[in-house]
Amino acid sequence: MSERFNGKAALITGSAKGLGKEIAKMLAEEGAGICIADISENIKKTAKEFKSMGFNVICQVTDVSKPEEIKKMVDAACSEFGKIDCLINNAALPYQGPLMDIKWEDWDPIINVNLKGSFFALQHTARKMIESGNGGSIVNISSLAGSGGRPLYVPYAASKAAVMNMTQSAAKVLAQYNIRVNSISPGNMYTEMFVECAEEVSKESNTDLESTLDIWKKRIPLNRFGQPSEVAKAVLFLCSDDSSYITGQIYNVCGGLSIP
Ligand SMILES: NC(=O)c1ccc[n+]([C@@H]2O[C@H](COP(=O)([O-])OP(=O)(O)OC[C@H]3O[C@@H](n4cnc5c(N)ncnc54)[C@H](O)[C@@H]3O)[C@@H](O)[C@H]2O)c1
Repeated sequence: MSERFNGKAALITGSAKGLGKEIAKMLAEEGAGICIADISENIKKTAKEFKSMGFNVICQVTDVSKPEEIKKMVDAACSEFGKIDCLINNAALPYQGPLMDIKWEDWDPIINVNLKGSFFALQHTARKMIESGNGGSIVNISSLAGSGGRPLYVPYAASKAAVMNMTQSAAKVLAQYNIRVNSISPGNMYTEMFVECAEEVSKESNTDLESTLDIWKKRIPLNRFGQPSEVAKAVLFLCSDDSSYITGQIYNVCGGLSIP
């Protein structure tokens, strides 16, 4: 196992399960001290599991749509590890529903968690990184849904498009401090969130889950859904010194689904 992250500290939001949990696990396997945070109390179970694997881990129950909780989460990571080298903004809420049914209030949780949560975690962490003078790497998890129209996921897709744009603005501002900001844009990764979306679509179109998954799979040039570890590997690359000259970039991890 490589030791790329020995002596480094990483903060990963939305890491009780799914992609965030896998990213945290792989960072810890390569030597990072990790602060895992999630709105779900299950984060404590995940931390226990990670401790039993010998990882250097702390956990925070954090709602990233609340600025005071973001501050508490970042401060906890800094007081445990003395610094944050890597922030992975992964926490997000999905949204699914016909465009003409979307209500004013439907937008609020999606924008508050996916966009404002990511931005203020970035801002507060960047302050700490600037103070430390050691630079850092921030990876915002966006989505392929944020590129081009997605009629069934309008608030979610719009929030992820905004995350990509915010990534580029932050990269320009923070480059002077050697803080790199990039984004990973996953396609169809096999997680709970993904299966729940597929179930919703199946229900609305009166088809069974297997048929929906089959149709989706056929659209992917590599002809399979992605594994969480395949996103995590790309995140680790962007967090590591292997990507020292890369900032403001958005990488699709999607089995070729983005190919026009
Ligand atoms: N799975 C996919 O196919 C896919 C595709 C594109 C993008 N993504 C993105 O990847 C990331 C992870 O997706 P996933 O499939 O692992 O989802 P998931 O639903 O399995 O995990 C998301 C985690 O975020 C947490 N979370 C939700 N709201 C929160 C809040 N307010 N504060 C803190 N934590 C909160 C949840 O509790 C959950 O543990 C998300 O940003 C998602 O939009 C996933």
